[in-house]
Amino acid sequence: MKILSVFGTRPEAVKMAPIVHLLAQTPGIESRVCVTAQHRQMLDQVLELFQIQPDYDLDLMREGQSLAQLTAGIFLHLDPVLEEVQPDWVLAVGDTTTVVTTCQLAFYRRIKFGHVEAGLRTHNKWHPFPEEINRRLATTMADLHFAPTDWSRRNLLHEGVDEKDIVVTGNPVIDALKYVAEQPAPRFVTELLEKLGIESNSQESNSLESDSPMKLETIRPETIKLKAKKLILVTAHRRENFGQPIENICHALRQLAERGDVEIVYPVHLNPNVQEPVNRLLQGVKGITLLPPLDYLPLVHLMKRATLILTDSGGLQEEAPTFGIPVLVLRETTERPEGVAAGTLRLVGTETSRIVQEAARLLDDESEYAKMAKASNPYGDGHAAERIVEALLQRAENPA
Ligand code: UD1
Repeated sequence: MKILSVFGTRPEAVKMAPIVHLLAQTPGIESRVCVTAQHRQMLDQVLELFQIQPDYDLDLMREGQSLAQLTAGIFLHLDPVLEEVQPDWVLAVGDTTTVVTTCQLAFYRRIKFGHVEAGLRTHNKWHPFPEEINRRLATTMADLHFAPTDWSRRNLLHEGVDEKDIVVTGNPVIDALKYVAEQPAPRFVTELLEKLGIESNSQESNSLESDSPMKLETIRPETIKLKAKKLILVTAHRRENFGQPIENICHALRQLAERGDVEIVYPVHLNPNVQEPVNRLLQGVKGITLLPPLDYLPLVHLMKRATLILTDSGGLQEEAPTFGIPVLVLRETTERPEGVAAGTLRLVGTETSRIVQEAARLLDDESEYAKMAKASNPYGDGHAAERIVEALLQRAENPA
């Protein structure tokens, strides 16, 4: 069985990496990898970290290109790869331009398409834009749907997908996260945390409630403030947040930095629509450290040490619950309600005052914090790749 995995952005590469590795080791499977390189630098960091050498690299990133230009580029350059490889299956993950274009090309060539991270929905076509429509389209063309959770499985069933074509696998991002979290923190991260005076590992302080003999009420927030600062990790890059929302987010970060008891670390996405406002509003502000987009390894280690995460990214919403770190989601909707239901995520939108208020509540109120800081992850157990490969092998034995 010949399987072609296609991906283009950093998060897709992280999620596909465990699957690509397992496919390569599985007898009876011939695995090929094609990257569209919708992202360049950010993708290459992940390829290096997971030691993946693509068989095909379409190298399609152009500074500030439109969705239409990117789509056209993938159509033109991926189709000859499909013709050459003649795969039995094409795999792609999630909801980017790479995914929606790839599954359409597979469909044109009557090649079976396996959709990883299938069934996420906000039911609002503009949030996130254009991803909500991308993933709905991917569903219409997929032959096997790898749903990360039971909630995503039910979304697919409601849309009429046949039960036998859905496999609940967990999200492979957790497989990748577990692998990376076990590696030592890069020196750059430990040095940065030391320089900023960040308090000891938040995983330890998060487990305070259950493990520490010290009662939570006896800890006075003032003493903690004197001792060390709390790390707030921020990422924000989504298209529906371009313009006013991202400016609001920046103003909220400035207000939070003024508290003096936190250090905000924000790796800034390379999209020019993010770079411009963030640099203009946050460059040089005391208590805020802007970084270039981080490699996955340092990002995971920063995440482990954070007290709080503010993000509009999907991946972080899935990853942070593994470490029991509360996440304030800087969006109006989320396609990941499992984390909201489990109590580790809270949707706060993009109004400055609401973000500041919600963050302050968690920073100032130990019991509010303890309620959210629960280390249970509804998104996966680290074995998604095995279930995905197993399902592909089974399908080969018993074709639908
Ligand atoms: C894309 C995905 C989004 C995903 C995000 C993760 C779509 C429609 N959106 O959004 O779902 O959450 O990736 O990051 O597919 N750039 C660089 N260097 C890089 C990467 C990007 O300079 O390594 C700049 C370029 O100017 C590029 C622009 O960012 O044109 C936008 O990149 P693009 O991939 O179109 O969209 P993202 O905003 O990254």
